Amino acid sequence: MSEEDVSYFRRGLLEWAARTSRPMPWKGEKNPYKVWLSEVILQQTRVEQGMPYYEKFVKAYPDTHALANAPEDEVLKMWEGLGYYSRARNLLRTARHIASDRNGVFPDQYDDIRALKGVGDYTAAAIASFAFNLPYPVVDGNVYRVLSRYFAIDAATDLSSSKKIFASLAGRLLDPDQPGVYNQAIMDFGALCCTPAQPDCGNCPLNQRCLALAKGSPADYPVRLKKTAKKERFFLFLIVRRGDKTLVRKRAGRDIWHGLYEFPFVETGSAEELSEANIGTIFPGGVPEGITLGEPSSLCRQTLTHREITAIFRELAVPENIPDRVINDGIFSGCVETDWAGLKKNFAFPVVISGFLKKFV
Ligand code: ADE
Repeated sequence: MSEEDVSYFRRGLLEWAARTSRPMPWKGEKNPYKVWLSEVILQQTRVEQGMPYYEKFVKAYPDTHALANAPEDEVLKMWEGLGYYSRARNLLRTARHIASDRNGVFPDQYDDIRALKGVGDYTAAAIASFAFNLPYPVVDGNVYRVLSRYFAIDAATDLSSSKKIFASLAGRLLDPDQPGVYNQAIMDFGALCCTPAQPDCGNCPLNQRCLALAKGSPADYPVRLKKTAKKERFFLFLIVRRGDKTLVRKRAGRDIWHGLYEFPFVETGSAEELSEANIGTIFPGGVPEGITLGEPSSLCRQTLTHREITAIFRELAVPENIPDRVINDGIFSGCVETDWAGLKKNFAFPVVISGFLKKFV
């Protein structure tokens, strides 16, 4: 890589960061205690989820001594909801170590920072660069993705032998004059532009020289040896028919389908159970008189990055005189009755449902 190549990459990234707003309470923070706290929170937690915890911790424990003096139960309680509780325990242990063995002074050399409990290569590089402006590049999944695309690297990122390739490139690209700014820029770039799915290549500051883009295949990078295990889910969707009405429900969960609509459903553990489901599965407490279940559709599938969806659709014919409560409770709760005619036009459905409607309805 020539000096000119390095400076194209650095300049593109830093100029992008300078014109991109991603406010985070720890951005530009130099206090090593606060940088350390934020980086430990972010080890296994998304930025949006981590922010309120960071604010809460800084308020309750503004410095190492305050944290060191806190009872473990209190710190764990404050950590509640973040998961991976060893992080909280290590945080406290390290704060006590710094308070009692280091006179409250946070280490300012990479090796001493890296030696702290709960601090790995990535966190040490982040603290060293953000708090002390030391030239250590952060290398994590985001950086693997950015570099593997930009250089079209075919080495699998989950092979330990690939680590050296990425670490060495990351070290060469790091801006030694402003390592903290550079590290924050590449993190933000990976989170906002060079994203795992649907990267924003049209607005990418590096798109003139990105080799994966030139090959037309940014989505093929990073290469992994092992495929991500996909979680399989099996749904029996019920197309409730009462006169010219049907039931739909807006999804409220925090998944990729948040805000889309669905039919009431029964979820089973396997394709066999899905095929064998009957009206008794839908009404385990007794089948209301007059309700009938139609023939199953063929199996419909949708493959997502981490999910393999298998679905069957069946009509549930409900006589007009059935009391509302029968289709208000249980698997029907939260549903609204809507005109069958406007269904396809008025509601956004996940692909597995819209595909079925397009094909069969
Ligand atoms: N992930 C880990 N450290 C981060 C940081 N400082 N900013 C954004 N995301 C991060």
